[in-house]
Amino acid sequence: MDFHPNPRQLGWIKGAIFALALVPFVRMVYLSVTGQLVEPLEFITRGTGDWTLYFLCITLAVTPLRKLSKWNWLIKLRRMLGLYVFFYAALHFTTFLWFDHFFDVQAMWKDVLKRPFITVGFAAFVLLVPLAVTSTNAMVRRLGGKRWQWLHRLVYVVAPLGILHFWWMKAGKHNFTQPIIFGVIVAVLLGVRLVWRQRQMRAQQACSCSMPTARTGSARG
Ligand code: HEM
Repeated sequence: MDFHPNPRQLGWIKGAIFALALVPFVRMVYLSVTGQLVEPLEFITRGTGDWTLYFLCITLAVTPLRKLSKWNWLIKLRRMLGLYVFFYAALHFTTFLWFDHFFDVQAMWKDVLKRPFITVGFAAFVLLVPLAVTSTNAMVRRLGGKRWQWLHRLVYVVAPLGILHFWWMKAGKHNFTQPIIFGVIVAVLLGVRLVWRQRQMRAQQACSCSMPTARTGSARG
C-alpha cells in the first residue's frame, strides 16, 4: 500500500505515537497513587523493564519496516521511539536505585557488581546514554553523519545485552519463554540488517569490478 503522509498528517501521527507511548507510564503512576497495586515496587520495576524492551524492539523494527513497505517517512519516527527506549530505561534504573537502594549509590554499585544480570542491564543502560545525548540535530551536525552513524550502531550491542539481562533474570526462575520470544525478535531484526548489508556489499563489489572494463572501454573509445 502506498502511503505518504503530508507534513500535517505526519505531525498527527507523531503526536499520536508520542501520546500512546506515554500510556504505560501514566498507567503505572495512576495505579501506584491510587493504591491499586499489591506489589507496587515489583510492578513498576518490571513494567518499566518490559517497556524498555518493547520500545527497543519497535525502534529496531523501523528500518526493516521502512525497507519492506517503502514508507520512507517511517524513519522520521525513529528518533522519538529511540528516546522512549531511553525514557523507560531511565525510569527502570531510577526505580532500581530508589526502591532497591534508597539512592545509596555505593550500595547500588555493590549490587551492580555482585549480580551478573544487573551488571548486564546496567551496561546496556550506560550504552544508551550517548545515544540519547547525541539524538539532537545539532549533535548529528557536530559529530558528522558517519561518526554519528557509527556511534548509533551501539544499539546493536544494547539490544543483545537487554535480552541477556532478561534471560539471566528469568533463568533464576527457570522461565525462558519470554526471553526466547524476545531473543528471536531481536535476532531477526538484527539478522535482516546483516543480510541486507552483505547484499549491498556484494552489489558494490560487482559494480567496482565492472568499473575498469568500463574505463578501458572509454579509453579505447
Ligand atoms: C536496556 C536496558 C534494560 C532493559 C532492556 C531491561 C529489561 C528488563 C526486563 C524485560 C525485565 C523483566 C521484567 C519482567 O519480569 O517482566 C527487567 C527486570 C529487572 N531489571 Fe532491567 N533492563 C534494563 C536495564 C536495567 C538496569 C540498568 C538495571 C539496574 C541497574 C536493571 C534492573 C532490573 C531489575 C532489578 C529487575 C527486576 C528483577 C526482579 O524482579 O527479580 N535493569 N529488566
